Amino acid sequence: MKPVNGPQLVSLARQYGTPLWTYDAAVIRERIAQLQQFDVIRFAQKACSNTHILRLMRAQGVKVDSVSLGEIERALAAGYDARGDHPGIVFTADLLDEATLAKVVEHGIPVNAGSPQMLEQLGRVSPGHRVWLRINPGFGHGHSQKTNTGGETSKHGIWFEHLAEAYALIDQYGLDLVGLHMHIGSGVDYEHLGNVCGAMIKEVKASGRDLKAISAGGGLSIPYKVDGERIDTAHYFSLWDAARKEIEAHLGHPVTLEIEPGRFLVAESGKLVAEVRAMKDVGSNHFVFCDAGFNDLMRPAMYGSHHEVSLLAADGTPKQGGERASVIAGPLCESGDVFTQGEGGTVIPRDLPAAEVGDWIVFHDGGAYGASMSSNYNTRPLIPEVLIDGGETRLIRRRQTVAELLALESV
Ligand code: LLP
Repeated sequence: MKPVNGPQLVSLARQYGTPLWTYDAAVIRERIAQLQQFDVIRFAQKACSNTHILRLMRAQGVKVDSVSLGEIERALAAGYDARGDHPGIVFTADLLDEATLAKVVEHGIPVNAGSPQMLEQLGRVSPGHRVWLRINPGFGHGHSQKTNTGGETSKHGIWFEHLAEAYALIDQYGLDLVGLHMHIGSGVDYEHLGNVCGAMIKEVKASGRDLKAISAGGGLSIPYKVDGERIDTAHYFSLWDAARKEIEAHLGHPVTLEIEPGRFLVAESGKLVAEVRAMKDVGSNHFVFCDAGFNDLMRPAMYGSHHEVSLLAADGTPKQGGERASVIAGPLCESGDVFTQGEGGTVIPRDLPAAEVGDWIVFHDGGAYGASMSSNYNTRPLIPEVLIDGGETRLIRRRQTVAELLALESV
């Protein structure tokens, strides 16, 4: 079982109600420290975009990657700007809508372009604008096909054989090419990493351009299972540093090395706390129902992702005894609202101590793509988020109300 501070979580659950997200600031700071060898750590805020988390990142010197107008607004609200050689915000996407185009131009936010049209649309209104090129190197790798962001089946980045068109547009509009970027997916292993580093060296040399920076993208995995493998960040850095050195030798000057993790920085900090509300046997399956649904934590339903769980008694002590194979389900009116399932929806029961109404279920490692992927499905309001920082706990998002949802429709 993963470690859990039961009494603290239960006291927060009683104070703010369930379901509830909690984040441990110390874990985030520890993960940031593990990547300090990189020149720039750029947090992929899609993983967890709460402005209080972004402020915590900023206080540690971490920059951000934004992928939408909303995420740019969040970064600005958290005090980031795009000034200087290592701008606080970079915008990464495969298209630019008019409103986002206006915003990146207004704030001088560098654009990491995933399509030639982005370069054209930006160049027309903002000659000299700083750009990165996101390259699809022709291969990718993900923890699920849905998170593989390279190769022919991925919509992301500019296909490596079509870069000449991008360079021509950069010249035509006098855009300022900062660097090349590759993010081939989430859950990249060392074998693929070697291939990405090789592809980066090849593309820099083939470009015939002078570049200031390269970005390693994100994709660093975390051990979701108790016995899961923990990434060796020193080894990860050494592979990229060797690539950077070869690029520096080729260009004849220093090159900035950026990394763009989402999950690695926040996943292990976040826990979803829910209350057990019902149990039932359906044929050979024993279901344990909690008050969190896939609208709160979508990863199991979307990718068949594994999240470890802890079952706590009403007073917060870990439950023991009476273990049985249990399917953990939520309240949504949809059969896929099950937290213990594999890719494709196969139900995978988990050995749990005997559960009772009033127990608590804690889902581990939900800090990345948990709250940020939640929805209002079944008209369920977004749930509170609490930041635990040393001895202090702080509400960083209150619970949404149904009245707020209905207000949107008062038109
Ligand atoms: N950079 C870019 C351009 C990305 O598209 C992503 C993730 C990242 C960085 C950060 O990837 P990470 O280090 O977090 O693996 N919802 C899925 C993950 C989708 C990731 C999309 N892009 C999940 O829950 O696993």
